[in-house]
Amino acid sequence: MGWSSWNAFGTDIDETKILGSAQRIVDSGLAAAGYRYINIDDGWWARRQIPDGRLVIRADRFPSSVKGSTSSFRPFTDKLHAMGLKAGIYSDLGRNTCSQAYSGDDTDLPKGSVLEREVGLYGHIDQDIALYFADWGFDFIKVDGCGLRAYGAASPKVRSGQYRALAPVLDLQSVTRSNIPAVQAEFTQINAALVRNNPDGDFLLSLCVWGAADVRAWGKNFGNLSRTSDDITPSWARLLTNFDSAARRELYAHPGSWNDPDMLYIGKGDFDANHLVEARSHFALWAMLNAPLMIGADLRTMPQPLMDIVGNTDIIAVNQDPAGNQATLAYDADDLEILVKPLASGQKAVAIFNRGLAPMDVDLTAEQLKFRDNAPITLTDLWTKADTTFTNETKLRVAPRETRIFRVQGTRMLAQGIYLSERPGSVNPAVDGVTRPQPDPTIFRSSAGWTGTKGAGERPMYAGWGGARADSTPYGQTMQIAGTPYAAGIGILANSRLEVRNNGYRSLSAQVGVDDSAQDRTHGVTFMIYGDGKLLAKSKPLRWGQPAQALSADVAGVSLIELVVRSTAQVNEQLPVSWGDAALLSPARPD
Ligand code: GLA
Repeated sequence: MGWSSWNAFGTDIDETKILGSAQRIVDSGLAAAGYRYINIDDGWWARRQIPDGRLVIRADRFPSSVKGSTSSFRPFTDKLHAMGLKAGIYSDLGRNTCSQAYSGDDTDLPKGSVLEREVGLYGHIDQDIALYFADWGFDFIKVDGCGLRAYGAASPKVRSGQYRALAPVLDLQSVTRSNIPAVQAEFTQINAALVRNNPDGDFLLSLCVWGAADVRAWGKNFGNLSRTSDDITPSWARLLTNFDSAARRELYAHPGSWNDPDMLYIGKGDFDANHLVEARSHFALWAMLNAPLMIGADLRTMPQPLMDIVGNTDIIAVNQDPAGNQATLAYDADDLEILVKPLASGQKAVAIFNRGLAPMDVDLTAEQLKFRDNAPITLTDLWTKADTTFTNETKLRVAPRETRIFRVQGTRMLAQGIYLSERPGSVNPAVDGVTRPQPDPTIFRSSAGWTGTKGAGERPMYAGWGGARADSTPYGQTMQIAGTPYAAGIGILANSRLEVRNNGYRSLSAQVGVDDSAQDRTHGVTFMIYGDGKLLAKSKPLRWGQPAQALSADVAGVSLIELVVRSTAQVNEQLPVSWGDAALLSPARPD
């Protein structure tokens, strides 16, 4: 949680603006509520000094950085640290940055020769990371990807001689055109440099490759947050896109590595003080997704009603809940979604999100919450704090663009255990079986893109289709094996391995088989359960149409369970399989 300069100021930054927002974070109590990171985004560089390569800060904007003939952010980070805050910096994977590629004028851009304007990490990883972390004392770095995307030989700024060409290896529009190993190689070096050059051992790495290059599958190996889409703008349509880009990735996040649908835009446009419904939705939805809560407004002038939104401690607690479960979609239509997020306390949070333009009367059921339908369920409204109790089902009115958000107390449906889909933060695909990443066609395609409505419109572009899902097949169907549907379970492709962290359960059981949605009717698959590396249970080979096999394993004392599915022969297509009703049972002590 924290604040970033980008949505508030773009590249027009200076230390008065940043420290002013930091001061309000402290004075308003937001720091005490958890907002700690104060992150400088693009726009801080003056140039790279030649020949020693040391980066120079814009002295006119950051006067405290001038120390004789050297340039240092140390006085700035010292100030933030003295305020009890942490400090974040920004760089790029390539030689040049996003603003250098995309901004229309060069007021805020680095100045000097072509080489002096190469301020990105490429070719300088060790030197720059040592400067940022060991020398200047930063705690967080966001690494953008424009330098690996926008400087092809044909790009106008390269052709005109402003920048050197760097063959693009990242393609936001097309996962098949990205060179995934090349992007990973860069992050490998950055990560190693962070480990080497960080005296206090405390850093966060924010990956900003916008869901490109199938980063969903590997971002967790390098960083702590990973952007799932292109930039948010202060428009409702764009919020839908950014929300969707993360909402079906519930199994691809866990403590230490989160989906990042981009920074908050509360304070501007569709999320300003005249749009409190939308601003509250934005906040509630980001909280449910376990998204980083990075305020993107000029806090020196933020109106109190918006301060109250980002300061809602009940909703912050949902976001920061130690169980680390991203919400799953319990109800999923184009105009209405119900998200459920199991909390460490055994309670759940539920958000009912009206995406559309008409008010709706929504049924919320015990089943959607995976609570018993014959025991009382209490909803606590996290805005009004009002409690209501119901059994089985209730009706709720949700205004256009409103998100109603509640903490819920009820009795878990499984008396003696928990469905794996109720703990997505501890069930994560190590290998998801996706061999040919494809764009997810369910992500809202907004008209609020960078080129307005010129061209043919945004195409599906965010790889994710076919990924592992809670309570759904990888392609969004209800899980079903030989005609039997499963409301709960994990849907994944064959040739996959899920890691399940166990905390005291004694057995794992599931109904396993090839999902009825599979196109391949000939090949068999085998399901295996491993406990701390040892094979505990194995199914017979199962083909499409064969009834589910009950598979269970004794996992008492096991800390890492692995759920593996192997096809018995080489399959050419991505084959959906289901771990129906997958659950951990018989806790040593209930959690
Ligand atoms: C990219 C990122 C943004 C921001 C800008 C800065 O567009 O996605 O979040 O950092 O670069 O230029």
